[in-house]
Amino acid sequence: MRDSASIEISVQRLLDRFGAAPEVAVVLGSGWAGAAQQLLDARQVDYRELPAFEATSVQGHVSALTVGRIGGQQVVTLGGRKHTYETGDCAGMSGALRSLQSWGVKVLLQTNAAGSLHRNMPAGSLMLITDHINAPQRSPLVGEEGNARFVDMGRAYDPELLAHTRALAKSRQVKLFEGTYLWALGPQFETPAEIRMFAAWGADAVGMSTVPETIVARHVGLRVLGLSLITNLGAGMSEESLTHSATLQQAQQSGAFAAEFLGALVASLAELASLQNPPLV
Ligand code: HPA
Repeated sequence: MRDSASIEISVQRLLDRFGAAPEVAVVLGSGWAGAAQQLLDARQVDYRELPAFEATSVQGHVSALTVGRIGGQQVVTLGGRKHTYETGDCAGMSGALRSLQSWGVKVLLQTNAAGSLHRNMPAGSLMLITDHINAPQRSPLVGEEGNARFVDMGRAYDPELLAHTRALAKSRQVKLFEGTYLWALGPQFETPAEIRMFAAWGADAVGMSTVPETIVARHVGLRVLGLSLITNLGAGMSEESLTHSATLQQAQQSGAFAAEFLGALVASLAELASLQNPPLV
């Protein structure tokens, strides 16, 4: 539910259970669940206790929120993401994200599994999302009122966080691709013709999530960063046929590398001055 009463109850429960909000929230997409194991002092709450958080039916996702820390950075992770293809509603993550923002979260770090549109960005690659294409042209903001709904998407993925992540990858000698993520509604995979069209549009990777959440996050002023774990080449680019279990299997193979980078990234945010509360004067 995303009505204001559900959000208020959820925020109150988060405050009662965990106190002040961490600055950073992470949505763990397919293949990224292993990152939760890096959380120290982890405490978990099931989405059933948070009325604004909608449970997901997707295998490999866990409908629970966990608070802990990685290094010196407090973080809240969402194990499950509601996808538009589950119900047709593209605002399934809206209540959860609005609750996190009113609790006090500042940064939304999104992760997902995606298909690559480049042969030289094979399965197992990590791609930093620099921009996105909302191919279904659906918006979780339909029905919102006032001028705030006309959200500027010119720099949807936070320039400072992008630069910080690039520098981290360089210092750890991690090969980090960059590109535009295209949201396909799913749940069916794409046809080879669609993949050719998406590549011609300028997309670099394709997946079934993330874009609606980025839109909601920007509407409420969360800073957004996104990472895709490439699990396959797009339809028609290889001999393999695409299945969710093959996607999960590939994600598991490279998941440890992805989770390690994500952990290092979260920990490194503790050094980002713009994230810390301004000093008292
Ligand atoms: N298409 C859409 N979503 C995906 C893919 C893909 O090829 N791989 C992982 N998620």
